[in-house]
Amino acid sequence: RGGSGSRVFRLGIQSGETRFKDGPATRTWGVNGTYLGPTVRVRRGEQVAFAVHNGLSEETSLHWHGMHLPAAMDGGPHQPVAPNGTWAPRWTVDQPAATLWYHPHVHGSTGTHMYRGLAGLLIVDDEETDALNLPSEYGVDDVPMIVQDRAFDGDNQFEERVPLGGSLGVIGDEILVNGTLGPYFDVTTRLVRLRLLNGSNARLYHFGFSDDRKFSLVATDGGLLAEPWQTERLYLSPGERAEIVVAFEPGERVELRSHPSEYGGTLGRLDGFDDRLDICQFRAAATLSDDTELPAVLGTAPALQGETVAEERSFVLASDQINGKSMAMDRIDFGVHEGTVEVWEVSNDNGFLHNFHVHDVQFQVLTVDGERPQPPLRGWKDTVMLVQGKRYRLAMRFRDHTDPNVPYMYHCHLLQHEDDGMMGQFVVL
Ligand code: C2O
Ligand code: CU
Ligand code: CU
Repeated sequence: RGGSGSRVFRLGIQSGETRFKDGPATRTWGVNGTYLGPTVRVRRGEQVAFAVHNGLSEETSLHWHGMHLPAAMDGGPHQPVAPNGTWAPRWTVDQPAATLWYHPHVHGSTGTHMYRGLAGLLIVDDEETDALNLPSEYGVDDVPMIVQDRAFDGDNQFEERVPLGGSLGVIGDEILVNGTLGPYFDVTTRLVRLRLLNGSNARLYHFGFSDDRKFSLVATDGGLLAEPWQTERLYLSPGERAEIVVAFEPGERVELRSHPSEYGGTLGRLDGFDDRLDICQFRAAATLSDDTELPAVLGTAPALQGETVAEERSFVLASDQINGKSMAMDRIDFGVHEGTVEVWEVSNDNGFLHNFHVHDVQFQVLTVDGERPQPPLRGWKDTVMLVQGKRYRLAMRFRDHTDPNVPYMYHCHLLQHEDDGMMGQFVVL
């Protein structure tokens, strides 16, 4: 606890070594450890403060992905932390319960810094969600899963140079969950809630179980859906999160996998990649406790469709650029006005996978090619996968935190694309 009532979270970025497999340890980076970082848990309404110390020999930053906060606290390319420096952002948490995350965001090196191991979860809690009786015992029936692919060389070091996916960046053939290779989870309750984060630089996951059982999607990037949605499969592109609730039977074993992708031009179609990957094995105990439930009604659906739209903008992603422009640190692309709702129409004009992430806000996907979106896109989102050729209309409200000088980012969250310039900047006026 720190002064003036805010909790202070101390996050130390460091380099080190991590043992993922037999043989030599892997040189990695981490936060308060050697790979990944602690889960930070905050409550709606709470004032939070951080002390982010950079123990590396180069500049880095920590960005709070999905958080609504002042631009100067955002941890993007304009808030680098110098080697041995400390950065001390603070803000008041003002958004619904959700699974957010943090990761570095220094322009040109975000991909490398994340690949080496800098990332962690940032969970927001609120009273409405506490009252739902969803599975919520952390690590027991409420389980974070940071899913990442890595390529190891013959000395167990992370391959950084082999661009296995061409302009996509490194695509790994081994999966880490929370920094563990070949993970399994001991299930002790009938219902388990998984907080899935695609924490990979470029890989698309198509989650599902080995027996094709159904599970319930309960939350997307920005919080709970209006109601659970039953499905056998779920796509998550880099940076997206989902909370799912899975029911288990006593004594069973089942594998969470990434199944082949239906989208041409994404990773599933690249030569030389097995796009079917085992992610984690679930091993259920002989008896399972059963005291949580899956409520029929969860949260409040986003409802920006009836609002007056102050501005419409369109964004076309192609060839490492957005609307034909590459990111420039000293160019602010536009200003939006405090309190207004805007509609952004976003499309992917390439054969590659892209997605689109906006800082500061959670948005509502109004339509995909003119149609109401499928349930996974009906809740609050901050990152949306862009299927080639489709048009996504996103509505968002810029609530407060004006600052004419410090911009927020919007970009493709395939980190090689972002680092190569598929990013722009806006200010809230
Ligand atoms: Cu996940 Cu601009 O960030
Ligand atoms: Cu972000
Ligand atoms: Cu992209």
